[in-house]
Amino acid sequence: MAFILITASLFFLFLWIISLCKVLILPRIPFAKHFTHNGRSFRKRNVLLVTAHPDDESMFFTPTINFLTSKGHNIQILCLSTGGAEGKGNIRKRELFQACVTLKVPMQQVKIVDHPDLQDGFGKVWNRSLLAKIIEEEITNCSIDMIITFDFYGVSGHCNHRDVHYGVCKLLHDTLQRDIEVWELVSTNILRKYSGPVDIWLSIFLAMLHSNGTMHCLVNENSRRSFKAMAQHSSQWVWFRKLFVALSSYTYMNTLRKVCSQNC
Ligand SMILES: *[C@@H]1O[C@H](CO)[C@@H](O)[C@H](O)[C@H]1NC(C)=O
Ligand SMILES: *[C@@H]1O[C@H](CO)[C@@H](O)[C@H](O)[C@H]1NC(C)=O
Ligand SMILES: *[C@@H]1O[C@H](CO)[C@@H](O)[C@H](O)[C@H]1NC(C)=O
Repeated sequence: MAFILITASLFFLFLWIISLCKVLILPRIPFAKHFTHNGRSFRKRNVLLVTAHPDDESMFFTPTINFLTSKGHNIQILCLSTGGAEGKGNIRKRELFQACVTLKVPMQQVKIVDHPDLQDGFGKVWNRSLLAKIIEEEITNCSIDMIITFDFYGVSGHCNHRDVHYGVCKLLHDTLQRDIEVWELVSTNILRKYSGPVDIWLSIFLAMLHSNGTMHCLVNENSRRSFKAMAQHSSQWVWFRKLFVALSSYTYMNTLRKVCSQNC
C-alpha cells in the first residue's frame, strides 16, 4: 500500500514538474492566434475585463491579463463592487490599485463601482439591467471592442460572479448590432481546478478540438506575477488563499470561450 502511495506521489510530482516546464516554454510558441497576429495584420484591442470583487483579477484572470498586455493590447478593468462584505471596502479598493501596478495595468484604466444595489455578498442578487447599463457606459466611454468576464458558473460559483456574467449577457442581447466580442473564462471541475499546471495538457487539447476558434487557452507568461499581485490584496492574503493560488490552474492558464448572444 505504502509503495503504491509513494509511486503515485512521485508520479504526480513528476507530472507537476514537466507541466510547469510546458507552461514556462509554451508562451514562446505562437498560440491563441486570435489574440495575437490574427492573419498577417495585428489589431490592437481595447479589452474590458469585467469582475465582481477586488482580487478576482489576480486570483482568476492573471494569465489573460499577462498574455494580452504582453501582446500589446490595452486592458481596462471594471470591478463591479468594492468587496465590502466585511466592511473593508475602502481597504480593498486600495489593494486593487496596488495589484494593478504589479499587473502593469495603469491606474487610470481601473474602475471600481460602489453602487448601493451592487454590494458584495452571498445571497445578494445584483440587478442585471443595472449591470448592463454600467458596463455599456464603460464600453462607450473607453471605446471597448472586446469584453472578458466570468462564465455562467463564475469559477467558484459565487452568485456575484454569476450575476456579472448574466449582466454581460443582458448587454449582448440589448445591443445585438454592436461590433463587440465577448469571451468568458471557462469554469472547470474541482479536479482540474486544483491541478495547478498539470491542467495544461487537457486545456490545450480541448482548445484544439474547437478548430473553429471559439476556445483558446492563454498560458500565463509570468506565473510568479500572480502571486505578487495576489499578495497586494493583504486583507485577503491568508493561508488558504496562498494555497489556492499555488494549486489553482487559474494561476497558470485561462481557457476563454467565445460567447454569442444565442447561448447566453
Ligand atoms: C434594475 O435596474 C434598472 C436600471 O437601473 C432599473 O430601471 C430597475 O428598476 C431595476 N430593477 C430593480 C428590480 O431594482
Ligand atoms: C462616461 O462619460 C460621461 C460623459 O462624459 C460621464 O457622465 C459618465 O460618468 C462616464 N461613465 C463612465 C462609466 O465612466
Ligand atoms: C465550434 O466548435 C464547437 C466544438 O466543435 C461547437 O460546439 C460550436 O458550436 C462551434 N461554434 C461555432 C460558432 O461554429
